[in-house]
Amino acid sequence: MRRLRVLVLMHPDFMPPDSTDGYSAQEINKWKTEFDVVSTLRASGHDVRPLGVQEEIKPVREAIESFKPHVVYTLLEEFHYTSGYDQHIASFLELMKVPYTGCNPRGLILARGKDLSKTLVHHRRIAVPAFTVFPMRRKVKRPSRLALPLIVKSLSEDGSFGISQASIVDTDEKLAERVAFVHDRLGTAAIAEQYIEGRELYVSVLGNNRLRVLPIWELKFGRMGRRGARQIATERAKHDPTYQERVGIEDGLAKNLAPEVSARIHRAAKRIYRTLGLDGYARIDFRLSADGTPYFIEANPNPEIAKSQEFATAAKHDGLDYPGLLHRILALGISRAKAGASVG
Ligand SMILES: Nc1ncnc2c1ncn2[C@@H]1O[C@H](COP(=O)(O)OP(=O)(O)O)[C@@H](O)[C@H]1O
Ligand SMILES: [Mg+2]
Repeated sequence: MRRLRVLVLMHPDFMPPDSTDGYSAQEINKWKTEFDVVSTLRASGHDVRPLGVQEEIKPVREAIESFKPHVVYTLLEEFHYTSGYDQHIASFLELMKVPYTGCNPRGLILARGKDLSKTLVHHRRIAVPAFTVFPMRRKVKRPSRLALPLIVKSLSEDGSFGISQASIVDTDEKLAERVAFVHDRLGTAAIAEQYIEGRELYVSVLGNNRLRVLPIWELKFGRMGRRGARQIATERAKHDPTYQERVGIEDGLAKNLAPEVSARIHRAAKRIYRTLGLDGYARIDFRLSADGTPYFIEANPNPEIAKSQEFATAAKHDGLDYPGLLHRILALGISRAKAGASVG
C-alpha cells in the first residue's frame, strides 16, 4: 500500500505514548487499541496523526483541512460523553467528504438498537431470543409469552456495561428490581431477553460488498460456572484481566462445532451483516444453545481492534496479520468513499 496520511480519532484520555516502556499492564490496557493502531500504521510507513476528540468538532475539521488525510481511522466510541453519538462522527466525516474506516452511520444506528436489530434479523429467519423492552418510567409487567429466566440489559449501552450475575432474573420480583437498576443507574431503557444457556460465539466479518468471514471464535468461561454462576460476559469477565486469569476465561478458536453448525453460523453472520447495512468490519455475537441453534445476540460494528482482541486474533488465525488487517480496514474505507455515499 502507498504511504497514506491517516488521521486517527480517539478519546483524549487514550492518546497513546510512543512506547509502552515503563507502563504497567493496567495502564497499557486502557490505551492498547490506540497504541496498536497508531504504532502499527506508523511502522508500516504511514504518516499517522492521532487526535483526541470529545466535545469539540472544530479540531476535527481543522485537522482534515490542514493535514488532508487520505483516510480517517475512527476509534471514537462517543462524543459529548454519549456513546449514541458515534454515528454522528461517521456522518460528519461523510459530509466532509473524507474516507473513514469502519461502519457507515445507518449501520451504526441499526446495530445499536438491541430491539430493532433483533426484529430486523428475525424477519430474515434467523433465531433471536424472545424479548421485550421496558421504557423508562413505565411499569414493569412481564408479557406471558416471555418465560423466566430472562436477562435484563441496557437497551443501548454496550461493552457489557451493567451486566453481572444479577442481570439474569428468575422471578418477576427480581425482574422489576433489575429493570429499575437499568433505568436508574444506567439511565436507559431496558431490554429483557430469553436467557440462552450455551456457548458464546463471536464471528468477525470484514468487507463492504464481498464479505470475508473469519473463523468462529469462542469466549470460554473456564471455571466461571462453578458454584452456580451463569456463564455470561459480565463486565468483570470482559474487562478484568486479574479475574479472567483467576477463573481461566479466555477467547480462542471455537472447537468441536459440527460442520453444519459452523456453516449455519457463517451464513447467519453474513446475512445479519447485510440486513443491518453494516460495512467496514463488525463482530456478530451468538449464543449457541445445546440443540445447535445459534441465537443472534448483537452486532458490533467497529468492534474492538487491539492486536490481542478477538477480531485481530481471528484474522491472524485466518492468515491475515495485524498490519494486513489494518490495511484492509483502511482500504475498505477508501473504496467505499470512491463508490459514493454509503447511505441510500
Ligand atoms: N439472551 C441472552 N442469553 C444469554 N446470554 C446473554 C443474552 N444476552 C446477553 N447475554 C450475555 O451478556 C453479554 C452482554 O450482552 P450484550 O447484549 O452483548 O451486551 P453488550 O452490548 O453490553 O456487549 C453477552 O456477551 C452474553 O454473555
Ligand atoms: Mg456484547
